[in-house]
Amino acid sequence: MKIVTFNQANSILNQYLAEVRNINIQGDSLRFRRNIERIGEIMAYEISRDLPYHPIEIQTPLAKTCENVPAVQPVLATILRAGLPLHQGFLNYFDHAENAFVSAYRKYIDIEHFDIHIEYIASPRLDNKILIITDPMLATGGSMELAYKALLTKGEPSHIHIVSVLASQQAIEYLQKTLPDAKTTIWCGAIDPELNEHSYIVPGLGDAGDLCFGEKE
Ligand code: PRP
Ligand code: URA
Repeated sequence: MKIVTFNQANSILNQYLAEVRNINIQGDSLRFRRNIERIGEIMAYEISRDLPYHPIEIQTPLAKTCENVPAVQPVLATILRAGLPLHQGFLNYFDHAENAFVSAYRKYIDIEHFDIHIEYIASPRLDNKILIITDPMLATGGSMELAYKALLTKGEPSHIHIVSVLASQQAIEYLQKTLPDAKTTIWCGAIDPELNEHSYIVPGLGDAGDLCFGEKE
């Protein structure tokens, strides 16, 4: 399974990553959402280089010419609710893409234990399509696994791109065991070493959904 970790190279993405992690900056929710969206835009550009391309002939006002353009559009899927700004970043670039949405939330049994619940899915058919699933946080990897399995009820994609801003090392290892090796690529801003006792990524950034949209009851 190919894994791309953006912060291993120098790019402007690292500045957005630093801002979403920074406790003195991340409280500005407009900037937080926009930074996640900008990270999505950069990742969408990088993934666009992995798509199949074909030449098309176009007429300019002056002459005919040819451009190589994506031969297919991916399906953009995201996990509600924290996935929305990252999804928007992808949609800004893949504006012809189809879209899919899955809900996932942690239902706590006690302070340390929770189940993940999927209650909503809206997706086109996925057979033989390139599927991009975005979620800013891969902590245990459980939400991504369940969202992927829910999406499989809509058909077998030809390739799956898993996209996150931050992933824990544990989630990466879990998804490597769980997702189909030959046709999955994981793209993440950074891989962090630990999870705490609440299964939050450390150092991480905190609660991505709350930082985007406010605390939930
Ligand atoms: C966050 C995040 C992922 C999940 C990651 O969502 O957006 O979906 O946690 O954790 P996991 O890898 O251990 O499953 P959360 O459950 O906080 O819901 P929200 O988007 O509604 O805030
Ligand atoms: N969800 C988040 O928003 N952050 C984490 O670190 C883990 C799950």
